[in-house]
Amino acid sequence: MDKIKFLDLGRQPIANRFLNEDEFENEFFYNLSVGFDQDTGLVTQMDYVDAPMMFNDEYAYRGSMSKTMRDHFAKFSKYFKDNIQRSPKVLEIGSNDGVFIKNWNKKTTFAVEPCGNFAQETNDMGYETYAQFWDIDTSSEILEDQGKMDLVFSANCMCHIPDLDGTFKAIQNILADDGLFIFEDPSLERMVNLNSYDQIYDEHPHVFSVTAMQNILNRNNLSIVKVEKLEVHGGSNRIYVKKTNKANEDTSVEDNLTLERNMGLDKLSVLDDFAEKVHTSKNDLLNILTRLKNENKKVISYGATSKSATIFNYCQIGVDLIQYITDTTPEKQGKHSPGMHIPIITPEEGFDNSVDCAFLGAWNFAKEIKNKEKDFTGKFLTHVPRVRLL
Ligand code: TYD
Repeated sequence: MDKIKFLDLGRQPIANRFLNEDEFENEFFYNLSVGFDQDTGLVTQMDYVDAPMMFNDEYAYRGSMSKTMRDHFAKFSKYFKDNIQRSPKVLEIGSNDGVFIKNWNKKTTFAVEPCGNFAQETNDMGYETYAQFWDIDTSSEILEDQGKMDLVFSANCMCHIPDLDGTFKAIQNILADDGLFIFEDPSLERMVNLNSYDQIYDEHPHVFSVTAMQNILNRNNLSIVKVEKLEVHGGSNRIYVKKTNKANEDTSVEDNLTLERNMGLDKLSVLDDFAEKVHTSKNDLLNILTRLKNENKKVISYGATSKSATIFNYCQIGVDLIQYITDTTPEKQGKHSPGMHIPIITPEEGFDNSVDCAFLGAWNFAKEIKNKEKDFTGKFLTHVPRVRLL
C-alpha cells in the first residue's frame, strides 16, 4: 500500500477494553494515525493494532444491546428470505452475540467469531460457531465441513480486518457460484459529512468508501452489484457482492461511485479538509465542557462506546469534565473507560434528573435514546455534525 497520512488522533488505548483500577498501570497505548492509500482510495490506519489484543475472550461489545440493531437484523433477514432466497445456507463472519444469526435456521447457518466468550454463547444457542479469525484456513476448514455458502454475511466486521485481499479471497473460496456476499460497515461519505471522526479507533483500521471497496473486490474477482445506504452505526453502506462472472450491476452502484467522485472522496484534499474540521470539533467540545464545568453543571456521558474512547483520548477528556458514563452492558459496568479511566455505572444508578448534561457517546442511537429518556430534563450534548447541545 502507498499510504499518505492525513490525520493524527494521538495516543489511544484499546477502545473496547474496560478496566479495573489495578489494570490502569499496564494499559496498552498506541498512536492512532490515519492515511489514504493512493492505489485503491482506501482510508486506513498507518499502523494496525494486533488483532488478538482487541478480539479475545474478554471482548465486551454486545450487538444485541440496542433495539435498533435487533430490529435492523430481523428486518434484513426477513427481507432476504421473502425476496432473495427462502432457505439459503448462511455463514456469518463476526457473529458477536448472535444478534444476526438468531433470525436464521440453526441447521443451515454457521458462524465465525474469534472472541471465545461470544463463540461459546452462539454455540450454546445451537449455531455451530468456529472460534477463530477469518482467513483462508478458516474458510477452507468450513468449506470441507459444511460445503459452499449461498449467503456470506458480515456486519461491522470487514472494516475490522487489516488484510482485505486475504479476507476477500477466503470469501471467494467458500461462496457458491451464484451466492451473495453482503457486508455492512460505517461509510466514509457519512463520516466525512457528519465529521464523525470517532468512527476511527483500533478496531476500525479502515473506513470504507464504495470506490475503495470496488477496487479491492475487483482484484479478487468479486464485484459490487448493489449498495444500500443505512442509518445504523451513524451511517453505513450495505454492499451486495457476487462473483465477477455472475455479477449484474444495479444502478445504485454507479450512483454511489458518482456521489463519492463528486465529493472528491477519491482524493486526499477532501481528507485534509476533514482533518481540519476534526481539530475544530475538538476545540469546540473542550470549550463547551469547560464552560459547563465552570457553571458547576453535572455532566456525564451516555453509552460507553468505542467511538467515545477516540474522542475522550484525542481531546483528553477525563473525570474533571465528565463525571461518569452510564451503559446498559453488564460487561462494562463497574469498570473504567479505556485511557481516560472515567467510571462506568448502570443507567439506573447514574441517569436521572440530577444530570444537567449528557454527552451522547452513543450518538448513533440518538433517536432510540431520546425516545427512551423522554422525562430527562437536562440537555444532551453531541459533536455530530458539529458540537452542540440538543
Ligand atoms: P455502539 O454505538 O454500537 O458502540 P461502539 O462505538 O462501541 O461501536 O454501542 C452503544 C453502546 O451504548 C453500548 O455499550 C450500549 C450502550 N447503550 C446504552 O447504554 N443505552 C442505550 O439506550 C443504548 C441504545 C446503548
